[in-house]
This record gives sequence, structure tokens and C-alpha cells, in this order.
Amino acid sequence: MELNATFKMPSTKPLMDVEQIRKNFPILQRKVHNKPLVYFDNAATSQKPKQVIEAIGFYYKNYNANIHRSIHELGEEATEKYEEAHKKTADFINADSYQNIVFTKNTTESLNLLAYSLTAKLKKNDEIVVSQMEHHSNFVPWQQLAKQRGLRLKFIEIDKDGNLDKNSIKKNITKKTKIVSLTHISNVLGTINPVEKIAKIAHENGALMVVDGAQAAPHMPVDVKKLDADFYAFSGHKMLGPTGIGVLYGKKELLEEMQPFLYGGEMIREVRFDDTKFNDLPWKFEAGTMNIAEAIGLSAAIDYLNKIGMDNVQKHDRELVEYAMGQLKGIDGIKIYGPDERDAVISFNLGNIHAHDVAQVLDSEGVAIRAGHHCCMPLMSVLGVAATARASFYLYNTEKEIDVFVNALNKVNRVFA
Ligand SMILES: Cc1ncc(COP(=O)(O)O)c(C=O)c1O
Repeated sequence: MELNATFKMPSTKPLMDVEQIRKNFPILQRKVHNKPLVYFDNAATSQKPKQVIEAIGFYYKNYNANIHRSIHELGEEATEKYEEAHKKTADFINADSYQNIVFTKNTTESLNLLAYSLTAKLKKNDEIVVSQMEHHSNFVPWQQLAKQRGLRLKFIEIDKDGNLDKNSIKKNITKKTKIVSLTHISNVLGTINPVEKIAKIAHENGALMVVDGAQAAPHMPVDVKKLDADFYAFSGHKMLGPTGIGVLYGKKELLEEMQPFLYGGEMIREVRFDDTKFNDLPWKFEAGTMNIAEAIGLSAAIDYLNKIGMDNVQKHDRELVEYAMGQLKGIDGIKIYGPDERDAVISFNLGNIHAHDVAQVLDSEGVAIRAGHHCCMPLMSVLGVAATARASFYLYNTEKEIDVFVNALNKVNRVFA
């Protein structure tokens, strides 16, 4: 049967028509506290277009079956669409093949998989380098691995602007380094890290380069070959896809020599009483019944983003953040964290007002932002704060919404004057 839901993709290339795009997102039509929703919590999770919602519904209504095992039409159709998702994801980040793409639950699981499966390559006193701006997902797995295996965890410092400090990069990545694991874009500071350059330094020192792409894959074209990343992790739910699907890209020779993370059904080729041969890539890392509907949803999200063009998404997001930075600078008592040149994330505090109070007043105006430590407690301690407020933008956001946000911030100042 025809395996695609019969919806129309937006035809917005080469320029983005944001008003048209907004019509594809049912949730953007709703009100919050009787005000139009302004959704600025995209770094936490993005909203979903109806193309994604319908692709998932279409699967459950029309060809729901388990994959790789059922010799019946439904099973074959489900397998075809699931495997298509591997291929589309590979193309999306310019990987060589579907074999480089392991589906996981999210970025967190992808990074945990690595910390677990790379253990065999490490010995006591080896060094792992992360940075001060890492999300806990790219921090705690390495920290715990270091504790268990007697490794040293080192931190690249950030400079006063919120960029990685160049001297600290040079100082920390040495011949003792076995793994460098860095975020591509900071979910707090919006900093766009020079991962291509750092990968080169890592490789010159014989280390592997792991990239946490959770905030980059949704917002910019990613080319894993150009970056020369050994591994690249990201989540479907931050890039218009459903929750429950994450990606781990890995170079084939590395994935091949790594030990599986989970054992069980489908990740095997042959099981005997005395031993097991593992399956080919990527299935060696995909044990048990996988997140089939979610992979199909991710595939639809990638179709949607490709149709718009990631260059256009990036341009839109960067223009929006530039506009917002300009507007925010006029607000009394505001302190913005991170560099001027950044991706679509702005963390800030407003005088002595607690970030949670800021978020609550904004919510009453229909503006959804996040407040807290953003899963970056070590970074908060470097910034000398317990929490920040954070607005984060995506392809369906507009300058008009930023104006609403700015007015709402002025209201916060009036409420707490
Ligand atoms: C930079 C970064 N890394 C990792 C994660 C974890 O993503 P997930 O919760 O989808 O595993 C996030 C989520 O906010 C993030 O922003």
C-alpha cells in the first residue's frame, strides 16, 4: 500500500514563509491564559507539525507491526518505513550510510551508550575532556565513568563572553586525552562551538571526538564528515519529531569494534548456548522492539525540515535571535549570558527577580519560556547564579512574538518594582 499519509508538505523553499509554516502547527493556534501562545521553550522540546503527527497516526492506523521479524505485508511495510528513517537520518547529517545511524531514545541515551561501550578503549589515568558548558547528559555519564575506571575528567573553561577559552582548549587536550566530548551549541549560552577545529586537535592527539548535537541538529545544516566527528548525538523531539527517538551517529569502524550497550532480541545474528554473534550495524545497537512509530515520526520531521531547507531554518533562527538581542538590551536590569554571535537561545536574569518569577509572569501573558539551571548546574556555578530565564526560538517564531515577549518582560519589571 501507499505508506505515506496524504498531507501536503509546505512549499516554502527558497524563502521561508513563516505564516504558512505556523498553519502546520496545530498547537500554535491555542491560547494560554486567554492569550495567544508564544512558545519560546524550543530548546527543551519543539512543537510538532501536523505532517509528523499524521505520519505517526497513519502508521498505527494502517501498517502497525513489529519490524525485521514478521513475514507478512504489515511487517514488511513497517520495516521498510523504519529502515527509510535510518537512511533519511544519515542523509540529513551527511553520513555515509544507514549503518552509521543508531536509533536510541534521546541524546542522553546516545551519550550513555558511548560512555558504556567505549569503556573497553580506556585504562586507568586516561583523560576525558568536556567543557564547563555541557548539559548534564554530556557530563554525568563521563564523570561517572571516570570515577568507576580511575580516569581523569578535565574541563575546557569558558571565557568572559561565554565562548570556549582557546588557551584552555590547547591546555586540556593532550596526548593523554582519549575522548573529547563537547556540545555543538550550548543550550544555555547559545554559543556555537568550533567543533571542526577541536576535532582536528583531538585527532592530532589521538583522541576521539564526540559531539552533543542536541541543540545544533534542529537549527543548522550538520555535516558529520566535514566536522570529522567520530560520534554525533541528537534528539528527534527538539527538531519537530516525537519524543522517544534519539540518534547516535558513529564512524563505522568505531561502531563495529564497540561492545553493544543492550543485549537481547534482534541485536543478534546467532545465539548458541555458549556464545552469541552480534548483528550487523546499526542493529547490533538496537536491541528489542524499537521505537518504530517514533522513527517514522522523525522521518516525517526530516522531510519537513528538508523541504524548508536547513540553511533557511538557520538564517531565520539567527535573524530572530539577533532581533531579540537588540530588543532585550533596552530592558531595565537585564543581564544576558553568552556571546553576541549565537544560536537561537537567550538566557538572562532580570535584576534580582528570580527566574521562576519571571517565567510565571510571562506565562500569564501567554509566553512560555524556561527557568532553572537547564540541566547545566556546573555552568550555573561558573556564571555565579542558581538559575536563569531562557527564551529559545525556532522556525515558526516571529519578530511579532518577540515584541510580545519584550512587553511582557517590561511588565515583570513593573510587577516587581
Ligand atoms: C545540549 C543538550 N544536550 C543534551 C540534551 C539532552 O537531550 P534529551 O533530553 O533529549 O536526551 C539537551 C536537552 O535539552 C541539550 O540541550
